[in-house]
Amino acid sequence: MKYKNIVVLTGAGISAESGIQTFRASDGLWEEHKVEDVASPEGFERDPNLVLEFYNQRRATLLSPAIKPNPAHEALAHLQREMHEREHSFLLVTQNIDDLHERGGSKDLLHMHGELLKIRCQSCHAIENTAVDTTQASVCSACGAVGSMRPHIVWFGEMPLYMDEIYQAIEQCDLFLSIGTSGHVYPAAGFVEIANRAGAETIEINLEPSAVHSSFDRSIQGKAGEALPSFVELLLQS
Ligand code: OAD
Repeated sequence: MKYKNIVVLTGAGISAESGIQTFRASDGLWEEHKVEDVASPEGFERDPNLVLEFYNQRRATLLSPAIKPNPAHEALAHLQREMHEREHSFLLVTQNIDDLHERGGSKDLLHMHGELLKIRCQSCHAIENTAVDTTQASVCSACGAVGSMRPHIVWFGEMPLYMDEIYQAIEQCDLFLSIGTSGHVYPAAGFVEIANRAGAETIEINLEPSAVHSSFDRSIQGKAGEALPSFVELLLQS
């Protein structure tokens, strides 16, 4: 196989075919909700109930039986297994807060914008898994504080997670693949430039050209669930 060190970045588009709303489509989440109300520390301080309810609804949708990983999630898990079998490096970085990559079989991925199925104590900073609603009466299982739990989500104005690890991996990769992301949110939208500087080949797969599509060596237009399985097979034969 041509590539020995692959970094993949995914965004909301990879989960769209699984029935999860994207953010910036005409029927997307940011058309229905104000970002500053539901995805900022200031919004949480102003109206914690509104923010908790917003993520409670997202979590309930994610856990409903209709929501399943699609062929794009599964193709990336397959690519990871094949890379590991060849003793090559592979890192999946996602901006998504859903767990569909894990359910599709991916391992050790980095959720740079946090996870819907985790909450965090603002008092002792402990992180815990959750599948149920969070309220202002929720109790931290680590320190017992009441009303201190918040979604383990990176909001606007907050620092994305795992950045050192991510930059280090991109600087060493020979293929950077970006799937289903509009390229509007930094730092993720700037990863392609770092990969270009590192001499990696850079390819985007997206329904429409992203805001940073011209930075990629190749831009493939299409649905991730349709384009990715055959793309991965071609990669494995390269
Ligand atoms: P966006 O909603 O901004 O963009 C999703 C992209 O996926 C768009 O460019 C769509 O054209 C594309 N798309 C839709 N369906 C697709 C499909 N079936 N196959 C391939 N592509 C498809 O979502 P993100 O780029 O992920 O951050 O947004 C980045 C961040 O902005 C999110 O992580 C979130 C948001 O505000 C936080 O909440 C911190």
